[in-house]
Amino acid sequence: MGQIDEPNLMRPMISLPGLNHNSAQIDRMTPMTQKPRALSSNEFSNGTSADTPKLEIQNSGNVLTIHWNDGRNDGTHSRYHAIWLRDNGQDPDTRDPGNGQKLITLQNIPADTAIRSATLNPQSQIEFVFSPDNKHTHIDLNWLKANRYDDVGDPTLLSENIITWGRELAGDLPRTTFQQATEDPKCLIQWLEHIDRRGFAVMSGLPSQSHVNHYPILEAIKLLGYVRETNYGQVFEVRTETNPVNLAYTGQGLQVHTDNPYRDPVPTLQILGCLQNEADGGDSIVVDSFRAVEILRKESPDYFELLSTFHARFDYQQSNDIHLHTSKPMIACTPQGQVTGIRFNNRSCHTLRDIPFAKMEDYYRAYRRFGQILEDPQLAVTFKLNPNELFVVDNTRVLHGRTAYSSTGTRWLHGAYADKDSLKSRLSVLRQQYSDSGITAHPNNA
Ligand SMILES: [Fe+2]
Repeated sequence: MGQIDEPNLMRPMISLPGLNHNSAQIDRMTPMTQKPRALSSNEFSNGTSADTPKLEIQNSGNVLTIHWNDGRNDGTHSRYHAIWLRDNGQDPDTRDPGNGQKLITLQNIPADTAIRSATLNPQSQIEFVFSPDNKHTHIDLNWLKANRYDDVGDPTLLSENIITWGRELAGDLPRTTFQQATEDPKCLIQWLEHIDRRGFAVMSGLPSQSHVNHYPILEAIKLLGYVRETNYGQVFEVRTETNPVNLAYTGQGLQVHTDNPYRDPVPTLQILGCLQNEADGGDSIVVDSFRAVEILRKESPDYFELLSTFHARFDYQQSNDIHLHTSKPMIACTPQGQVTGIRFNNRSCHTLRDIPFAKMEDYYRAYRRFGQILEDPQLAVTFKLNPNELFVVDNTRVLHGRTAYSSTGTRWLHGAYADKDSLKSRLSVLRQQYSDSGITAHPNNA
């Protein structure tokens, strides 16, 4: 078995007392549902420091418990199932060391996989041997701690990454300039973090439009990812038209909304850039729906459940060649109840008929109340978008709208869509590139 099964003072190896490591069967162990028992000191190798995590194999090799011993002395521990550990092995036969892609499927792992031995090595990796196929692999201890899933509690309503906001944000809009974002990685990181964590940011100092086919917002979008082309084109114009096909192209005020809820998936970022804004009115409004969801669930969990359980219908038809439609909940959640996104757009909300008869009246009450919260002035950030400025919203979270504007003067915007996956990728890569240079902005600094 080599060094895996050899006691080593520097490598606390835990296996089952009295059991042969070469045995394919490990029995008389703790039931799966039972909490780890207290450990006696003689169950661990001598020579371990007080902070060295202690390993305990339980339940016939189906569970590994790590007692963290991280100085808190509070019995903190985490349990991991054998099948999960085997699936997350970090050896080069399990996961490509270059790109991190998994090289096996679950069918390559025996269904009766069990932990035969687990040994902490000096590199802070746990070396495993699994039965019945004598598979050797290892997993980094810090990785295991970062990815623990035992007793981590119910997920919060919102991801811990999220910062919600109300109208107080108007006094300090998250913003940068095009030049800063282009030339200074620190500024770009911070700007992208604003979008990632607050779902909203402004950029000023865009290049002026040099000719009719020049779209400055596309240059800005290159900083965060890629444009998402739709039936509206790569870039769409937002200004008064004589025969508007969409209310966004008139001078009426617009209730705050997310764009294109009738698509599946929706564009997850929207960018609106200003070329001219001389009209009276026409201020931009943004609202953090996640703050509204916090309020809704606190005052009426039933309303929250209705809007996150039953599907609304969203529909958009233009002439004879476009008919976009989908059925989705207004508040999307994980199965554990963490909010992942919202769709709210009165203009595109179609006939509601995916809600049971007994729930329909309450659904309308919930829908009405959610709309009232979203239109509460305490949540609205209103600002004038000036020429050569743009703002970006997370279109699965931050609603946008505008106040009405006069027909005199010109209000002319360019709009476009992009997606958060590319933004998150760009942010992750930038953090990796600049974290060692002291240039990175920690998420808490965003
Ligand atoms: Fe819109």
